[in-house]
Amino acid sequence: MTMAKNRFRGPGVCACVALLACAPFVAAGIVAAEAPVIPQYGPDKHEGVSSCDGSTCHGSAAPRNDRNVRQDEVLIWSEEDRHSQRAYKVLLNRDSKRISKNLGRKKPPHQDDLCLDCHADNPPPDKRRTENGAFRVEDGVGCEGCHGGAERWLRPHDSGISHAKNVELGMYPTDEPVARTRLCLSCHLGDRKKFVDHRLMGAGHPRQSFEVALFSILQPYHWEPDDDYTARGKQAPSDVKLWAIGQAVAVDEVLDAMLDDNRNTLGLFPELVLYDCQACHHGIDKTRRWRPRASTGLGPGVVRLNDSNFLMLVQALQLIDPASAKALRADLKKLHQGASEGRGDPKAIARKIRANLAQLLPKMEKWRVDAKALRALSKNVLADALGGEYADYAGSEQAAMAIQTIVYGYYAEELIDDDVYDGLEQRELTKLLDSVADPDKFNPDNAKKAFRALEAKLRGK
Ligand code: HEC
Ligand code: HEC
Ligand code: HEC
Ligand code: HEC
Repeated sequence: MTMAKNRFRGPGVCACVALLACAPFVAAGIVAAEAPVIPQYGPDKHEGVSSCDGSTCHGSAAPRNDRNVRQDEVLIWSEEDRHSQRAYKVLLNRDSKRISKNLGRKKPPHQDDLCLDCHADNPPPDKRRTENGAFRVEDGVGCEGCHGGAERWLRPHDSGISHAKNVELGMYPTDEPVARTRLCLSCHLGDRKKFVDHRLMGAGHPRQSFEVALFSILQPYHWEPDDDYTARGKQAPSDVKLWAIGQAVAVDEVLDAMLDDNRNTLGLFPELVLYDCQACHHGIDKTRRWRPRASTGLGPGVVRLNDSNFLMLVQALQLIDPASAKALRADLKKLHQGASEGRGDPKAIARKIRANLAQLLPKMEKWRVDAKALRALSKNVLADALGGEYADYAGSEQAAMAIQTIVYGYYAEELIDDDVYDGLEQRELTKLLDSVADPDKFNPDNAKKAFRALEAKLRGK
């Protein structure tokens, strides 16, 4: 899963890396007083993928770009994007049937809202344009599952109205980092209405992991943040900035789950999904995985929170607002001690961290990720990796995803050339990603070795 230099993997398209690097940051109030409503819960009817699919609209067989956008979005989505029919189709397979049976569900998974809420665009029945088979839940996570029910904007958006006007008519602002991350996480972590809890995991659902910059690339892009994109008033932050804001949103969502009484308990126990899976799930006899981690203040033999997003956010804040990074480190330690050892009031800490984050977001949006910032970020992340801070699997996994985005940033900022980038991608980055590929085989010492090899290659660049 290394990061392709060419993120537009649509058929026959050339790389537009330079455009990504120089896209200006558009200042906008993305911490809107009221957050935009996630498409599934919005007030508008969903018109169905078939209403986007016209050959002069988004259903072209090749990129046309004669109307600002590529126009082959439907093709990229249906052939390369797992959100298309595949997200729905997996609900018909044996794994899904087993999960459903283990949970004692009455309906089969492809008819069960529990599953459809994330594996398809699944608005309520009265919010679907079903005439002539326009809307089909079988289409999976269709266009409107991310872009919002098109009832009010379908016609107008076709006639050159501004992006802001589209958003006013109910289009979801997928370009805004906070809104995008919240949207993705509504399925890739869950929200107040849908959630993959430990019961679902225990029944066989795969573990969730997410990082918005990398996952946007892996989706892959069916959009091009070029000059006209920003001229139309859309935001095109650099990958590293998207990563940083994405970590803040992820921390906010994790804290929301911890504070939500419908999600934070499982019988007598706290909800285990919020903890580090490998704190419990590893062999007893052979593995001796425990390593001290300064930031937790915890000793051996306790279940630790999955703090991977917090660890990354601390790194971003270290460069954006060092005093806040220090405060977050202190609060995280208290959160750990509350959640693992019953000391203090972890809910009060969770609320405090969320309030601080709301204050910090505008600062994060103004962050300029220049060469100096990239160098400092990679130095700090790698120092923590070598210091043992990412000894837990989830921490190493997030750090490895971050390093991938940072190394790509080095390339985009021309701190390393094509040859160096290709070499890193073939060797050091691949080794690092291999070291976190399988949680069951994770060994913190191997991961550390891989981080060290990268550190040696990036030193002085
Ligand atoms: C909160 C959202 C959410 C809910 C609820 C949910 N899933 Fe998922 N599911 C996901 C996401 C996101 C992935 C992809 C994880 C990844 O690869 O990072 C996934 C992956 C899967 C996979 C593996 C897919 C593959 O390509 O191999 C199966 C099988 C699955 N889910 C079945 C189910 C079933 C059955 C239900 C209902 C009982 C369900 N899911 C409920 C979000 C959800
Ligand atoms: C999983 C979420 C997701 C799905 C599903 C999805 N998109 Fe997108 N789309 C995005 C994101 C993220 C962007 C980039 C941000 C933006 O431009 O708003 C985007 C951008 C776009 C753009 C804007 C390009 C520009 O230059 O302004 C178009 C057009 C588009 N998508 C069409 C579609 C169509 C058509 C479908 C269905 C075939 C679809 N999308 C499905 C997430 C999604
Ligand atoms: C409505 C729910 C939903 C939303 C919203 C959503 N996803 Fe997904 N996503 C899924 C499901 C379900 C899968 C698993 C599909 C499969 O493999 O069968 C998935 C899979 C993926 C994968 C493939 C993961 C892998 O293991 O290969 C990527 C990448 C991804 N999503 C990125 C995104 C991004 C980026 C966003 C936000 C712009 C987003 N998703 C929004 C439900 C969603
Ligand atoms: C506090 C300890 C703890 C944590 C943390 C934890 N689990 Fe579990 N897990 C358990 C226990 C206990 C069981 C039940 C084992 C049994 O029934 O034999 C279980 C069962 C499972 C199973 C079913 C295994 C089987 O063989 O059927 C899966 C899969 C699973 N957990 C995944 C996860 C994932 C993914 C995470 C992290 C997001 C996680 N667990 C976090 C304790 C934990």
